[in-house]
Amino acid sequence: MTERGPGAKTWAVSDFYTFEQLRNWQETAPSLAPPARFAVIGDPVGHSKSPQMHNPALKACGVDAQYIRVQVPAGRVREAFELFARHGFGGVNITIPHKQEAMAAVDEVDTLARQLGAVNTLVIRDGSFHGHNTDGPGFLRSVREAFGADVRDLSVLVLGAAGGAGRAVVMQCLLSGCWKLLIANRSQDRLLELEKEMNALRQGRVPRRRIIRKNWDPASLALAVREADLIVNATSLGMKDGDPALLPGMCLSPWHLVYDMVYRAGGDTPLIADAKAAGARHADGMSLLLHQGAIAFEHWFPGVTAPLEVMRAGLAAA
Ligand SMILES: NC(=O)c1ccc[n+]([C@@H]2O[C@H](COP(=O)([O-])OP(=O)(O)OC[C@H]3O[C@@H](n4cnc5c(N)ncnc54)[C@H](OP(=O)(O)O)[C@@H]3O)[C@@H](O)[C@H]2O)c1
Repeated sequence: MTERGPGAKTWAVSDFYTFEQLRNWQETAPSLAPPARFAVIGDPVGHSKSPQMHNPALKACGVDAQYIRVQVPAGRVREAFELFARHGFGGVNITIPHKQEAMAAVDEVDTLARQLGAVNTLVIRDGSFHGHNTDGPGFLRSVREAFGADVRDLSVLVLGAAGGAGRAVVMQCLLSGCWKLLIANRSQDRLLELEKEMNALRQGRVPRRRIIRKNWDPASLALAVREADLIVNATSLGMKDGDPALLPGMCLSPWHLVYDMVYRAGGDTPLIADAKAAGARHADGMSLLLHQGAIAFEHWFPGVTAPLEVMRAGLAAA
């Protein structure tokens, strides 16, 4: 990973820019070609594969622009948006830890993003900031593509339900009227908070008796798995070697659909490895990255269908 030095004029996919460089954009990137017009912000952000997906898509659509990574510290998201607007950017993706801060930093939050509780896509139009959430609909599209299934027909177990990604999946499942929703989270107090927020959305969509809170211990999780068709890992477990196991051993069956929001460069996550060993169908975080990215692209270019296969190939090459 290399950090850009001020004044550098070329671009490479492993690079990211710092917030200071964004503030001094005229000196940082005076002759960037194509010009940077889209970005992902996060902290850290250097690992993001979004450029490898969006740059080929921009090229395929004949857009003379490139997509970059910018590392933005917590508390500076609104300032970063203003800098992007000043430098002629059209859109930004927002990743960890900024999705909640971004919601407060935009001028307008669309209904879905408000319901899901986070903004992961910014559209800059006429100098004002419009916030969207593409994680929820991206999740639905990727479940359809990976499993040929719709959450309306599934009993869904969300592990890490009270985290940012988990919350988006839970709320999207409620909005889509999933058959049954099993929720589990290490911190029970966060889960109780989530349950309160879920009440407003579930009305008329999913009966209360089909929303079940599970304890975070091996025996309860094993029982929850037995009740589930689709198992979603929305925790950050599996990102790093040495992370504790998510589920007790041998609890997956061949009929399970296993969906890991985490992705790892160069190998399976432990959950995906377990799914393979059990003969279960599976999808990892790349699938979500692709579909949420395609929906973001369509927000930036209304009326254009994102070139999904180009984006998929870009991610595969990455
Ligand atoms: N593929 C994609 O496009 C995509 C999109 C969004 C997110 N993600 C991935 O989803 C994961 C979660 O992201 P996020 O934004 O939701 O993060 P987050 O808001 O920080 O939430 C993290 C979740 O993981 C749980 N957790 C962390 N360490 C744990 C441990 N040792 N044992 C049990 N639970 C633990 C947390 O539980 P507590 O509440 O107890 O802390 C919380 O539920 C990340 O790996 C991220 O990369 C992928």
